Amino acid sequence: MSKNYYITTSIFYANSYSHIGNFYEAVLADAMARYKRLRGFDVRFMTGMDEHGQKIEQSAIALERTPQEHVDYIAQWTKDVMRNLSIDYDVFFRTTDKAHYAAVIKIFKKLYEQGDIYKGSYEGLYCTPCETFYTKSQLNEGKCGVCGKEVGFISEEAYFFKLSKYQDRIIDLIENTDFIAPKWRATEMLNSFLRAGLDDLCVSRTSFKWGIPVEFDPSHVVYVWVDALSNYITALGFMGDDDSLYKKYWPANVHIVGKDIMRFHTIIWPAILMALDEPMPQQVFGHGWLNFDGKKIGKSLGNSIDPNELVEAYGTDAIRYYLLREMPYGQDGNFTPENLIARINADLANDLGNLLSRTVGMIDKYFGGKLPAAQAATDFDNEIISQATKVAKKAESHFDNLEFDIGLAEIWMLISRANKYIDQVEPWKLFKEEEKQDVLAGSLYVLCEVLRVVAILIEPSMPSVPAKVYAQLNITNDGHKSWEASHKFGLTPKEIATTKGDAIFPRIDVKNSVKN
Ligand code: ME8
Ligand code: MG
Repeated sequence: MSKNYYITTSIFYANSYSHIGNFYEAVLADAMARYKRLRGFDVRFMTGMDEHGQKIEQSAIALERTPQEHVDYIAQWTKDVMRNLSIDYDVFFRTTDKAHYAAVIKIFKKLYEQGDIYKGSYEGLYCTPCETFYTKSQLNEGKCGVCGKEVGFISEEAYFFKLSKYQDRIIDLIENTDFIAPKWRATEMLNSFLRAGLDDLCVSRTSFKWGIPVEFDPSHVVYVWVDALSNYITALGFMGDDDSLYKKYWPANVHIVGKDIMRFHTIIWPAILMALDEPMPQQVFGHGWLNFDGKKIGKSLGNSIDPNELVEAYGTDAIRYYLLREMPYGQDGNFTPENLIARINADLANDLGNLLSRTVGMIDKYFGGKLPAAQAATDFDNEIISQATKVAKKAESHFDNLEFDIGLAEIWMLISRANKYIDQVEPWKLFKEEEKQDVLAGSLYVLCEVLRVVAILIEPSMPSVPAKVYAQLNITNDGHKSWEASHKFGLTPKEIATTKGDAIFPRIDVKNSVKN
């Protein structure tokens, strides 16, 4: 029986185009999904769009579209970007999906009928861009403490969810399990929200129409966060006609979300699930911000970089590598075009690209494109072979924890080691000594095997690179390319025949490429 693995991103707001920070989340989730598939899991990877709410209604009006036209347009655009970034999701879920709509109506009704939702009245300060109510103390000089925009005073009849009832169970979940990762974000949630005590949550609105109605009181629309969070289960058919996917994949192994929405996912979402008497997701992972020149990139901040332009200019794999390598585990990372180009040139063009082209070039030049069977070891083999044999285990231990930055750094240590090995072995000198041809051949074989191991391990991060490496080294046996094969050194038959190809990562000329 195969092991199931359900991973999700958050669902992106359809008010406007998503930016490279949002897509970082999708790349991280995709790399993890690919990694788990390679490890033999039956993976379901879900991403999608959050398509209801006042903000979306307003954006549509401003563009003279109906909300549905607007979200259809944004959803298609988002899917196109995801294709450009090789995001290989199993389902792209949208909250305007009919089954979701129907299931949310049922969820709301069930919670109402069992007394977890009740009718009251709400007065408070509301921030439309954040779709959130704030207390005075949460404001910053009278404006929203999160986005900095004006907040409005709202007084309305509303439905409330008994969030307070679940406070102790939520604290227990956060304190006593690995529900929140990284660990320090658990402390953040406990200190900033839970210790102070939870108020019941206002879960309906009457100020706009674009949402899922409360069936038994249709002037009310279901609060967009209740609507949106439910997607993780309605996307599996929960409360739908066929819940076999729900039975198979729930609870989720991990929800990947940004730090600003951790509190919705680690307080409100578990409380809803507790009220529904459904199991908790195993983990919510909160990543940091991708900043642009030190400032947060945001849809409404107008400092977005078009992700399509980035892919066009630098290539899918390079962008994916950069995001995964540059964003420190769970923390903020800084994006600058200079830094992107520096990484592409140093890590990809120089370290990895040159290792491949030098190796293939030397096999061409010294052996006419095919290694002889007679091979002998160099004095430097033990160390590099031992490192190459251990790297997969190390990479796995980091990938398992979503530490792609550290896992990739481990792989690049082996690549650097291989480049240093060439300097130590000095193949160009061996070539001139007739009795050293077997040592020369043996050293080139070691380099090919390092490249094979590296190619396997980078597949989750850079899905189209391995095939290019295998093509140049003529590695055709699937058993030599499987994930398990990354743990074994010396799998390829000795007489490797090479096919010279293009540089897998051409150097980028800084002057021509920095965009303003
Ligand atoms: O929050 N760097 O959608 P969203 C990294 N619809 N990640 C960032 C980021 C940045 N600069 N800016 C935003 C929503 N994000 C809701 C989610 S889930 C039931 C509903 C992250 O489009 C952000 O934290 O505003 C979130 O995880 C994701 O991008 C989508 O943000
Ligand atoms: Mg946001």
